[in-house]
Amino acid sequence: MSEGKNVVVTGAAGGIGRATCERLAAAGWQVLAVDHDAGKLAWTQGLANVVALAADVSSEADNQRIAAEAETRFGGVRAAIFNAGIGGGGSIDGLPFAQFQRILGVNLVGPVLGIRALLPLLRRAGGGAIAVTSSTMGVGGEAENWAYSMTKHALIGLVQSLSREIGWEGIRINALCPGPTRTAIAGMEGQDGVAEADLPPHYHSLKRQVPLQRWADPDEMASVLEFLVSPASSYVNGHALVADGGAVVGTGLTLPKTGAARTYPLDDKH
Ligand SMILES: NC(=O)c1ccc[n+]([C@@H]2O[C@H](COP(=O)([O-])OP(=O)(O)OC[C@H]3O[C@@H](n4cnc5c(N)ncnc54)[C@H](O)[C@@H]3O)[C@@H](O)[C@H]2O)c1
Repeated sequence: MSEGKNVVVTGAAGGIGRATCERLAAAGWQVLAVDHDAGKLAWTQGLANVVALAADVSSEADNQRIAAEAETRFGGVRAAIFNAGIGGGGSIDGLPFAQFQRILGVNLVGPVLGIRALLPLLRRAGGGAIAVTSSTMGVGGEAENWAYSMTKHALIGLVQSLSREIGWEGIRINALCPGPTRTAIAGMEGQDGVAEADLPPHYHSLKRQVPLQRWADPDEMASVLEFLVSPASSYVNGHALVADGGAVVGTGLTLPKTGAARTYPLDDKH
């Protein structure tokens, strides 16, 4: 193994996952970029230290395939980032049951299966680091987003429990809780380069809830994931790191009214 620099990243076709792969590759990691959308993994073509693998994280067989590929390509892994996720809003009596099961399968069962498949490789490497992508919806709730939110809460329970279960083996596990980030899952696909005033209404309403008064770029989440699997966070374990521009610590009523009007160019249209 190239001295602890082999990593699996799921949800790697775009958004936070792709940005994370790019960041880690630039930092000298060998990256196995996993996504179920094979077409969108084309960005990896021609890159020396990024290998693409089409796989569905909700499938046990596919997670075994991910582990086998990491073994074949890299001879093991030192880090794993379980980042694939899907949204799916709907009221408690309106969300179709099949959709609820799919959200559970991808967002929650996926990381569990992935950890079970890759743990033997991390153990053989003599330790390593795991990160999962939760959400600010993992530390709070939202109307008509209960299914997504409960999976993200559950990931933090998984992280806190496993940190106590496998920490003695030198394997750390942490969660990232992103706030609004400009990616497909947040309804921002294809919006790069669009003028601020022409972005969709939900962009503006969410922006107003963030003290920094802007959404995050995917690379701002990738940098946190890189931190969580790198030696820079060597004593961080069982933690849920909220990176949301300060949104969840407030009530939405705490931004300075005059200051907000003066400092932030809020758009009255939205
Ligand atoms: N963007 C945000 O505002 C935000 C906020 C909080 C949390 N998150 C979380 O961040 C993570 C990354 O999402 P993103 O923002 O980059 O959005 P995204 O939609 O660009 O990325 C999600 C990726 O997961 C992949 N995926 C979905 N189902 C899969 C499956 N069954 N098997 C393999 N891959 C699958 C998708 O193809 C996609 O590439 C997700 O877990 C999401 O819940 C995002």
